[in-house]
Amino acid sequence: MERIKNAELLKKVTTPEAAASCIKNGMTVAVSGFTVVGYPKVIPAELAKRADNGEDLKITLITGGNVGDEGDGVLSRSHVLARRYGFQNNKDLRTQINSNEVKFVDTHVGGVPHLIKNGFLGKLDVGIIEIAGTTEDGKLIPCFSAGITNVIAKYAEKIILEVNETVPLAVEGMHDFIDIDRAPNAQPILISSPVSRVGSPYVTVDFDKVVGIVYSDKRDTNKDLAPANEEQTKIAELLIDFLKDEMKAGRLSTPLPPMQSGVGGVANAVLTCLAESDLTDLSVYTEVMQDAVIALIDSGKVTEACGTALTISPSKLDDFYNNIDFYKEKIVLRPQEISNSAEVIRRLGVIAMNTAIEVDLAGNVNSTHTNGVNLMNGIGGSSDYAKNAGLCVFTTPSTAKNGTISCIVPHCGHVDHTEHDTQIIITEYGLADLRGLTAYERAELLIEKCAHPKFRPMLREYIENAKKNATGFHDIL
Ligand code: COA
Repeated sequence: MERIKNAELLKKVTTPEAAASCIKNGMTVAVSGFTVVGYPKVIPAELAKRADNGEDLKITLITGGNVGDEGDGVLSRSHVLARRYGFQNNKDLRTQINSNEVKFVDTHVGGVPHLIKNGFLGKLDVGIIEIAGTTEDGKLIPCFSAGITNVIAKYAEKIILEVNETVPLAVEGMHDFIDIDRAPNAQPILISSPVSRVGSPYVTVDFDKVVGIVYSDKRDTNKDLAPANEEQTKIAELLIDFLKDEMKAGRLSTPLPPMQSGVGGVANAVLTCLAESDLTDLSVYTEVMQDAVIALIDSGKVTEACGTALTISPSKLDDFYNNIDFYKEKIVLRPQEISNSAEVIRRLGVIAMNTAIEVDLAGNVNSTHTNGVNLMNGIGGSSDYAKNAGLCVFTTPSTAKNGTISCIVPHCGHVDHTEHDTQIIITEYGLADLRGLTAYERAELLIEKCAHPKFRPMLREYIENAKKNATGFHDIL
């Protein structure tokens, strides 16, 4: 069945070579996609081919979230990327970022649309959007992510569409797009629950800007998630017990406010354990929905969920596609400007649960750099949630690299989330509730509850020395 249902757009179908010819050296290109879902695959391969054939081709690439290897991997290995904005988690790109071949500017997920709309990143020359198809009047039906798709459609000077024929057309209706104007005309976002709809399921594009449409038969290449290990399960159990105690004490509502869960092994373990817990009437207001959210819906524990991407493991994808109409009633895909909106997160009192690389004794969190200097992935949306959440939780194993490095440290080598925003820290050894505590109290609690026992004496010694030499309130840390 023809997926481009609009006659005028259908005339724009062309070859990848012809479509990509509008992308020239030095241009800024933005692509759709988020958490390895809904990103273009054909045009990046075409650009890489040109560079491999000797063309001088370097671009600035903007994404809303991480795209698959056919984006960041292919482009970095062919040395097409000069500059990169937006979350990434590609091994080859990471190497080029850390060697300074690619200039990477880490940006909050919720802030990328603001940067584009206001021209802070310069002119957007070309946008490439992967879609499942179009309506008869030419509206775009995006794939299983929303990200910055609507912003690209509006602000890019030229648009290339990639029609992915592997994505079921039944995705139509899952999205809820609204375009927020630039200040001072930005309108309030009147979302009162994860599935309340305030916009349109489609993205509108000016036909004159569409310079080419190509077809793609390539599935997204995300990987199956590894099952939770013992350490991650322990962290998840501590968190769930804590949430139950908070409900009993009346500090959290019953049912719980919507939950946000970050990326990585611990994040997935938390949601998996929630599916096995006796908590019910749960809801999800998050950035990335993964397999565990589907499991929570299947178990009847989650009744509504929204995010900007729905990333299903390859082994579970066919099952999901077969039951898509059931999930469509319970899941909404929102542009990242909305899924990560400070205003909505604060008003709904979202419980934010993100992963740290290290936590220091004051409660500052580093989620992006190892050894203080090497970029891992990027800040993603962790700060959008951590800073505005009703409850802000960070989890981390107590040690890294086979127990040789303590993840509880005197000072973080790099700070992404400050002591003013972090509230609950959990490792497999325990939970530190930092709310209402002074710097001294936070340090002591983090050592006793969260640090690995073998690193505690060293950390205590640091505090004792710091106390002896302290000249002011914060001198200890
Ligand atoms: N010192 C040195 N290396 C460390 C470390 C530390 N304190 N803590 C972790 N690492 C290393 C691990 O050894 C691992 O290295 P490897 O890739 O060589 O095996 C790597 O960092 C990743 O650690 P891992 O425990 O596998 O991470 P994860 O998959 O649970 O992800 C983050 C953890 C922090 C990297 C990930 O959550 C992230 O990118 N967060 C930032 C973005 C974000 O929070 N987005 C969510 C918003 S919705």
